[in-house]
Amino acid sequence: MKAIGLLDYLPIDNERSLFDIDIPKPIAKGNDLLIEVKAISINPVDVKVRAPKEKKEESPKVLGWDASGVVVAAGEECKIFKTGDEVYYSGSITRPGTYSEYHLVDERVVGNKPKSLTHGESAALPLTSITAWEALFERLRIDPLKKEENELKTILIIGGSGGVGSIAIQLAKWAGLHVIATASRPETKSWAKDLGADETIDHHQSFKQQLKTINTAEVDFILCLNNTDQHWNSMADVVKPQGKICSIVENDKPLDLNVLKSKSVTFVWEFMFTRSMYNTADMIEQHLLLNDIGELIDAGILRTTMNKRFNPINAENIRKAHRLIESGSTIGKIVIENFE
Ligand SMILES: NC(=O)c1ccc[n+]([C@@H]2O[C@H](COP(=O)([O-])OP(=O)(O)OC[C@H]3O[C@@H](n4cnc5c(N)ncnc54)[C@H](OP(=O)(O)O)[C@@H]3O)[C@@H](O)[C@H]2O)c1
Repeated sequence: MKAIGLLDYLPIDNERSLFDIDIPKPIAKGNDLLIEVKAISINPVDVKVRAPKEKKEESPKVLGWDASGVVVAAGEECKIFKTGDEVYYSGSITRPGTYSEYHLVDERVVGNKPKSLTHGESAALPLTSITAWEALFERLRIDPLKKEENELKTILIIGGSGGVGSIAIQLAKWAGLHVIATASRPETKSWAKDLGADETIDHHQSFKQQLKTINTAEVDFILCLNNTDQHWNSMADVVKPQGKICSIVENDKPLDLNVLKSKSVTFVWEFMFTRSMYNTADMIEQHLLLNDIGELIDAGILRTTMNKRFNPINAENIRKAHRLIESGSTIGKIVIENFE
């Protein structure tokens, strides 16, 4: 089967950084489904895993953690899906990725593909939707059903126009929150507003000063989707006493937890691969939440975050997408459709 892999970790302009390969089609066993991949999307994690380093692989490593496709075989333990079902999922960081014509995934982290979307539009969603859902409704413990209570609360979403921000804004609005998103350019500000953000502020300027101009002294929740080091002190500054902060981006320098103490602020990490990486007992939650996201899409409450699409799925187009993600200024998601 066709796939795209790497042996050396090279700068993206090197054609050997990701190249077309032919590898054996895998066989579904146990809880695994074999998926015929119709579309993928590219995430910053792909770029982080591929980042140049000395390490070498003995056989091609396949990256990619978002796909939409069709079940073509199911392992003997599978109970949820059957051959012919259309699905979308992110998968596991500890297993080969989705840059391949056929792909194995544990059915407990797979959802029903939204019926109203194409495979491309669906592939934009799984990794970022799982991240945003878990961050908002599990880590920050916002109850999406308590809309009246949530209407009195404000969330600051840092990095509002990126892949995760684009779905987090929509989910936070669905839950009833007042949403302030950060965006630094006219096109990212209007993207965030179109998705439902009530206000935008610039992540390159003081949060405190800008919040003052929109009559907001402090915020109940902060979801940090970019550069935790840069935003750490500003977050401590504008979070309400007893408020909550969730970050999804690893820090490069030690973080000073003391700045949160006098306000008794809760800080929590979100890592969407935790469940699949540690095979946690509640792994099935990702299947359920992807189904919920699909239903909200089909009901017209959420929309796809796809903003750019390439065709076909090959090394050249994947390298193009990695180059764009490396720029740090993509808006929404980049999708690649169809093996030729
Ligand atoms: N923990 C997890 O489970 C998890 C899951 C998904 C992603 N992540 C990580 O989360 C980060 C964001 O992912 P993503 O897919 O949303 O990224 P992305 O789509 O590449 O984000 C691009 C956006 O980031 C904004 N941005 C650039 N510099 C910024 C800054 N200093 N502060 C705030 N925003 C800034 C840009 O907005 P402007 O153009 O307006 O500046 C741009 O629209 C990545 O580091 C990714 O690896 C973690």
